[in-house]
Amino acid sequence: MLQDKKILLGVTGGIAAYKSVYLLREFVRRGAQVKVIMTGMAQQFVGPLTFSALSRSPVFTDFFDQNTGQWHSHVDLGLWADAFVIAPLTANSMAKMAIGLADNLLITTYLSARCPVFVAPAMDLDMYAHPSVKKNLEILLSRGVHVIEAGEGELASGLSGKGRMAEPQDIAEFVQQFFLSSQELAGRKALVTAGPTYEMIDPVRFIGNFSSGKMGFAIARELARRGAKVFLVSGPTALTTDEPNIELIRVTSAQEMYSHAQKIFPQVDMAILAAAVADYRPAEQAQTKIKKSDQDLVIHLVKNPDIAASLGKIKRSDQLLVGFALETDNELRNAREKIQKKNFDFIVLNSLRDKGAGFGVDTNKVTFVFPSGEQKAFPLKTKAQVAQDIVTQIVKITNESR
Ligand code: C5P
Repeated sequence: MLQDKKILLGVTGGIAAYKSVYLLREFVRRGAQVKVIMTGMAQQFVGPLTFSALSRSPVFTDFFDQNTGQWHSHVDLGLWADAFVIAPLTANSMAKMAIGLADNLLITTYLSARCPVFVAPAMDLDMYAHPSVKKNLEILLSRGVHVIEAGEGELASGLSGKGRMAEPQDIAEFVQQFFLSSQELAGRKALVTAGPTYEMIDPVRFIGNFSSGKMGFAIARELARRGAKVFLVSGPTALTTDEPNIELIRVTSAQEMYSHAQKIFPQVDMAILAAAVADYRPAEQAQTKIKKSDQDLVIHLVKNPDIAASLGKIKRSDQLLVGFALETDNELRNAREKIQKKNFDFIVLNSLRDKGAGFGVDTNKVTFVFPSGEQKAFPLKTKAQVAQDIVTQIVKITNESR
């Protein structure tokens, strides 16, 4: 439950604001103390009186009370809260959060809040799919904001698609789970590898792959969310993170990733290897751009170090090693072989045959395979949800071995 938790509920101006009334009731039902901040537009959809009656507290709508002239301190509100939940979050307020445009009490409070921040976006499907909205959501994610994704279904516009605010019960459940699991990995340290590696052929060309880094970044975020200190060693990717619990180490080649992983591994309790490491690199890197000629070009490739196998060799009994396998055929047999060869505690298998799984996309469909041969298959989920499943499994193994 949310007994004694102080929740600041931010309501911005979308039609889903009516659902926030139910969300408020859900929080109260679970034992939370709730204060509400509304933007001007939100008040056009639902009156502050409804929220005030249900929260048994005045609703904050402006920097000062028009009637009494009393100043509402955004700093005090931010410090009061154990969680700031903004639902619905419109595209407009999302953009303001992303650039720090503090032109109302809600956004100003967001900028000064020290507590975890949750957002439940809600908008029309075309807005939700717009590159600027996607970019802003990415920015919020990279800063540690917890995003409760919009669902698919019928929208207020009459259109149908992705953009419906998550249901109040699901939002309340998400926040509750957060509190339940937030200290599970406190004091633990983790190494995560992510993204592709680039193996230079000459100063302007490389051998790479399509890995986006999304899965590894999602795992790093989930570990940090549960209290772990994370060393995230990532190959070239457009993603970034400013979370204080995540130390991002950017590398280019497999060899660089290998040397960082070797250095970090002895200090950590667990390593999750989600990087798509190039197995081979050019034997020599030309110092100048290779010129075109009439002849075919042959590049001699040599083997890269296998980071996973090297960590598997030095793994202590108190350490956990989790790997990934992306297979196109003989998935299970190959996964089992890899577990043995690399000394993994379990492997996350994704098959390129599954629609929506693999490189670049936001979703993944995985099966966990354990050294005993046991398997756990999951349906298609977002990468953030897959990261939750992986970290939940890690917590389970850690607790069992205590
Ligand atoms: O053998 P394969 O490349 O399929 O193994 C995949 C797993 O091993 C992934 O967890 C990947 O991050 C890791 N790996 C590695 N170093 C390599 C190749 C793969 O850490 N050189």
